[in-house]
Amino acid sequence: MQAKLSVNIGKLKLKNPVMVASGTFGYAEEFKAFLNLKELGAVVTKTITLRPRQGNLPPRTCETPSGMLNSIGLENPGLEVFIQEKFPLLKKTGIPIIISIASEDDPEEFVTLARRLDKIKEVAAIELNISCPNIRGKPHLISQDTHSTYEVVNRVRRVTEKTLITKLSPNVTDITEIAQAAEAGGTDAVSLVNTLTGMSIDINTRKPKIASATAGLSGPAIRPVAVRMVNEVYKKIKIPIIGMGGIIDTLSALEFFIAGATAISVGTANFINPKVSIEIIKGLQDYLIENNLKDINPLIGSLKA
Ligand SMILES: Cc1cc2nc3c(=O)[nH]c(=O)nc-3n(C[C@H](O)[C@H](O)[C@H](O)COP(=O)(O)O)c2cc1C
Repeated sequence: MQAKLSVNIGKLKLKNPVMVASGTFGYAEEFKAFLNLKELGAVVTKTITLRPRQGNLPPRTCETPSGMLNSIGLENPGLEVFIQEKFPLLKKTGIPIIISIASEDDPEEFVTLARRLDKIKEVAAIELNISCPNIRGKPHLISQDTHSTYEVVNRVRRVTEKTLITKLSPNVTDITEIAQAAEAGGTDAVSLVNTLTGMSIDINTRKPKIASATAGLSGPAIRPVAVRMVNEVYKKIKIPIIGMGGIIDTLSALEFFIAGATAISVGTANFINPKVSIEIIKGLQDYLIENNLKDINPLIGSLKA
């Protein structure tokens, strides 16, 4: 017997609820030697911007207890090169491809990017990255303000009927207010969490270990924060949640479903074990069978508080 793993996110029908998180799987090409991409529920691409970005100066990553810091700074080839050079391979996989987009400093760029992507049939969904903590000179993120979140989501909503996912930051006082603003703006789903802002110091040089001083913390170290936030948001909104933050195996993925996530994304763990997402898909199947569940959907938000 096989349990049903398929879930819906807006118009998107996923054969299983396991995706790979933006920025941790490149444009899939980098991983095709390690796993059968066709088995994944979906791929979320590295965030792209309108123009190419070189990203931040090195060092841009360092290991921390049960996690890592990164300050890549949205390095990407820009929209048109992405479409010409990176998208063809992604398209060939036949699985849903979710394109993550961001703007350096102009919310109107989200609209321009979405308009262009809207014309490409094989783009399954658009993820609005309004929560990248690593853009220099930006004291506040869009996702740290309810009004700005509503505005960006709503402006993009008006130019595309593709499934719209809005990625939220954990670096806020109350993430539920931001999730509600995104829902009001017309997003089909929210994804959470992006990285937590952190800092690590080299005690010999007394300098930050990352050139940009602060950076985004990811990996198992942030998992309890992410699970808490998914559960808080689940209680306040009606649209689906894509949960992420420190998922490294089936057990950690299950926490997110029980907390309220309809699907999950695997990030930092891809760097340790590129096959981990496929292992989680099999592990979820086994868990459902062992627990006499025919379908993953009843597990979603089944937390006994
Ligand atoms: C090296 C690195 C690069 C990332 N780049 C992006 C990005 O371009 N866009 C984005 O939305 N999130 C980016 N993220 C955040 C992840 O998608 C994810 O939200 C976060 O790392 C938490 O999940 P994890 O603990 O499983 O890694 C990046 C994370 C890492 C570690």
